[in-house]
Amino acid sequence: MRITVVGAGYVGLTTAVCFAHLGNEVMVVEKVQKKVELLKDGRVPFYEPGLEDLLVENLRKGRISFTTQLSEGVEFSDLIFICVGTPQNPDGSADLSQVEEVAKETAKLMNSYKLLVEKSTVPVNTHKLIKRTVERYLKIRGKSMEFDVASNPEFLREGSAVQDFLYPDRIVIGVESQRSREILQELYKDFTCPIIFTDPATSELIKHASNSFLAMKISYINMVADLCEKVGADVRLVAEAMGYDKRIGREFLRAGIGWGGSCFPKDIKAFIRMAEDQGVDFSLLKEVDKINTRRAQQFVDKVKSVIWSLRGKSLAIWGLSFKPNTDDIREAPSLKIIPLLLKEGAFLKLYDPKAMDNFKALYPPGKDLTYAEDMYDAVKDASALLILTEWREFEEADLKKVKELMELPIIVDGRNIYDPKKVRELGIEYYGIGVLNL
Ligand code: UDX
Repeated sequence: MRITVVGAGYVGLTTAVCFAHLGNEVMVVEKVQKKVELLKDGRVPFYEPGLEDLLVENLRKGRISFTTQLSEGVEFSDLIFICVGTPQNPDGSADLSQVEEVAKETAKLMNSYKLLVEKSTVPVNTHKLIKRTVERYLKIRGKSMEFDVASNPEFLREGSAVQDFLYPDRIVIGVESQRSREILQELYKDFTCPIIFTDPATSELIKHASNSFLAMKISYINMVADLCEKVGADVRLVAEAMGYDKRIGREFLRAGIGWGGSCFPKDIKAFIRMAEDQGVDFSLLKEVDKINTRRAQQFVDKVKSVIWSLRGKSLAIWGLSFKPNTDDIREAPSLKIIPLLLKEGAFLKLYDPKAMDNFKALYPPGKDLTYAEDMYDAVKDASALLILTEWREFEEADLKKVKELMELPIIVDGRNIYDPKKVRELGIEYYGIGVLNL
């Protein structure tokens, strides 16, 4: 099929490249010229495993093209995926101006039937606003043309985006007409997972409800972790045993320094706000968010209780990205923890396998903050090592070497990547989250 994808961020680019990989012809509309040039050259502007290889392959096969002009995209196909950003407004709601812009411009340009599909996460009933906008702009053109708006939320995770797109747990499609249902049915016909057809409002809600639920699971286990620490229990075993219950499930029960990223923090606030606009006080989610906000200070307090004063102490930091396998630092716990440590007067040496450049743009190297060559360089002469992201590289680190390089062999692990017993056997003082801290 011919598909137009508007927006070449994580969701848009993955969607476009994967649809091309599945044999479709895809045109991507991205307004940032520099990005388009990179992409035409087969280079992905962010780190996402496997995506660049697939992009290069599909460029070679001529199945994917890029343009800055929406008019080209509108002409190219009847099926237009809206994958533009929906950033957060100061009041927590979603800024939908980019979505509106696509609706408006499409209506000004279209000369035949179009199906506009929302893939970006949007508040419930955004489809109605898109529809109204298209209708208004068609009217002032004096045209009455058929079009549909559908919702097809994307559930991919950064770091495993390609895999998640190609092998989803489910596909959700919210449609209002038989015509749009048939187009999307055809597009997804080779997928073997359940496909749930709903009305657009239900589909829009499913996305927000899913993300908020996952964030709630993490905040829940983080509270259990706090309790475990107090009573000398082990949250890893609590989570494992809970997870075997199929009603609970094993995923998203890893306790740590809290959830971050481009989705959870923004989506949960937008969901709370949207509920409020409808007169529903989603107080449960407000608490979920509050619990998460507290994690950074709690972690710093833990570091202080272990080390005593942080003034003038050299600390090694492993991990800056909000999760492994990505260079994304948006709303990463590191962005909250590092300023708190600096305020305490600590000297920090940072290392991350992929996210250092992004971090440097916000925190250039200086007197109290430097960047390491590699993970071992970071721990040289450090009074403690703090782990903020669970990169595999760290899990596989030679801890004997780490111990020898440090001034004091102390690890405060914000992601519980090691077995406390094994680390302590090496003569390293080890402190995790929700584990027995001796
Ligand atoms: C999330 C959703 O999973 C995805 O379906 C949606 O499309 C976009 O938002 P993503 O933001 O890429 O994906 O990351 P995810 O793997 O969900 O992790 C989010 C945050 O939760 C990370 O900061 C991660 O470290 C944290 N997390 C996750 C935990 O602290 N514990 C867990 O058990 C799982």
